[in-house]
Amino acid sequence: MRHVFVCTTGYGCHWQKVVAEHRSHGNHLTPEEERERMKEQPEHANGHIGLHCGEIGGGELYEQFKAALAARGLRDVLLSPNACIAQHIARPVVMVYPDGIWYGRVTPADVDEIIERHLIGGEPVERLVWRELGSPEPAGV
Ligand code: FES
Repeated sequence: MRHVFVCTTGYGCHWQKVVAEHRSHGNHLTPEEERERMKEQPEHANGHIGLHCGEIGGGELYEQFKAALAARGLRDVLLSPNACIAQHIARPVVMVYPDGIWYGRVTPADVDEIIERHLIGGEPVERLVWRELGSPEPAGV
């Protein structure tokens, strides 16, 4: 049994609309631009650097995983939305447990590969691995 967590923090918030509009004009925000834009929204200026995962595709990734897992009938994979784990530099982030693999900068084009190679085949997609934490040690009794 594997458990996939997709960071969806910020999905549907004001910033998602700002970024979508920005991208619709063919523009992408640099980290510096993101910081400048965040100053306009004090509720987001809380020490996080840049946009949340859900503001740049995390929500869509979650929905795509959900549909792709259902289409394959994979019953031994759990899927959950996840709150921020302060890994904005690698957003959007997807984690797979118990392997302790954190994927970064995941795009919709990567979803099928993660499912086929990792969730079904058991081998992480190396080019997307952001952090490798390994399996958690069982707690002592
Ligand atoms: S919002 Fe995803 S790591 Fe912070």
